[in-house]
Amino acid sequence: MSDRGLMTRKTLAAIIASEETAEHGLAKALGPFSITAMGVGAIIGAGIFVLTGTAAARYAGPAIMLSFVIGGIACAFVGLCYAELAALLPVAGSTYSYTYATLGELAAWIIGWDLVLEYAMGASTVAVGWSGYIMSLLHNFGIDVPAAYAAAPGTIIKLPDGSTVSGIINVPAALIVGILTVMLILGTKESARINNVMVAIKLAVVVAFILFGAGYVHPANWHPFVPDNTGAFGEFGWCGVLRGASVVFFAFIGFDAVSTCAQEAKRPQRDMPIGILGSLVICTILYIAVSAVLTGLVPYTELAVPDPIAKGVDVIGLPWFSVLVKLGALTGLTTVTLVLLYGQSRIFFTMSSDGLMPAVFSRVHPTLRTPYLSQLLIGMIVACVAALTPIEVLGEMVSIGTLFAFVLVCVAVIYLRRSDGDVARPFRVPNVPCVPILGILFCLSLMLGLPLITWLRLVVWLVIGLVIYFAYGRRHSRLRHA
Ligand code: ALA
Repeated sequence: MSDRGLMTRKTLAAIIASEETAEHGLAKALGPFSITAMGVGAIIGAGIFVLTGTAAARYAGPAIMLSFVIGGIACAFVGLCYAELAALLPVAGSTYSYTYATLGELAAWIIGWDLVLEYAMGASTVAVGWSGYIMSLLHNFGIDVPAAYAAAPGTIIKLPDGSTVSGIINVPAALIVGILTVMLILGTKESARINNVMVAIKLAVVVAFILFGAGYVHPANWHPFVPDNTGAFGEFGWCGVLRGASVVFFAFIGFDAVSTCAQEAKRPQRDMPIGILGSLVICTILYIAVSAVLTGLVPYTELAVPDPIAKGVDVIGLPWFSVLVKLGALTGLTTVTLVLLYGQSRIFFTMSSDGLMPAVFSRVHPTLRTPYLSQLLIGMIVACVAALTPIEVLGEMVSIGTLFAFVLVCVAVIYLRRSDGDVARPFRVPNVPCVPILGILFCLSLMLGLPLITWLRLVVWLVIGLVIYFAYGRRHSRLRHA
């Protein structure tokens, strides 16, 4: 604490004590069911509903199932680390808080800034996926919104008559962000309740797809299981399975969002591990089953479409079920966007409480008890990004930013076991340091699967963050000026 250098860090005891006496004003409204539902709500979204098809068609073929297994294993290692830290440090702010207690303030700032990629930009990405599905559903009902107003500038859209049109602005994506922002401002408890209902609908549709679809699978579509490599790295073969894992990793993002609501959990030490690991296990099993059924229904070469699950349903030949699946996908994409917007405001809340961000981000509404101004600001920025940026650019930035954060979480577990080994841990990662090291290695391999331009964008983003830290955060840090 007395260290005023770059390694200024909070002590573990200080964080736990300040949480116990905190008058932060956030309501303790969430139990284990709501938290697990929040995890599932954050996880199942654009990854399974949009990206699975593309990844199967371009990189992995039917072996996309194995890509999901690899992604699931990577997230399991990281999830165990998250569970230990979330139970030990039940504070809002997720990885940011853990890093503050381990690697110090500068590293914490870097990770807090990096998490904007996962949460705010993640919300934008999924909102763009939502826009695609709503267009497709409206088309089912004979309503066709001009395509140029549902795509980012510069995006080329192919129309049914074969002609092309260039995107102008993605209005539906911005609209859904606006609606969800208003919901979140109105109250956490209410949002969690609506979220539980939507998660139930989404799960029912996913399970129905698996059960209905399983009866129509043509096992011949699973051959060849690992199609021959085309000669280019990542296009089929075993390296394609790995590239597929880097792409569908996006589908797992979100289990960590559970950790951002630790301050609002009724019994965080018990509920955090249940929420994180429970939601991860449920989703991994569903993903493997959905990808098996999907590639069994439709030849993988035909899956590079914006709504692959709906295409799978078409093979079953039940038009009403196709509409239902689109509704389920929309519900799924809505819950993911909701949780990501929520998580972003809670991370900013903690960073602002520490003085690293302006006080407006930790101002809680007197009656609604939500950080309303912060939520509004985040909503406006996320809506603009969603309206103006293509999904591919967004998705890759989200993945690299999240993987970077996951690496630091694994490092934090190893570090804290050494620096504060005697503090009682309600949940312990088995086999430290092996499990965290495996988590780090898996995440780094998945990062290496992403293109160079994405790495460059990450570096530029982090440099902007450093400029802000030295111009503002360092001078206003509560810890430095205590
Ligand atoms: N895992 C989330 C999704 O698939 C981000 O949309």
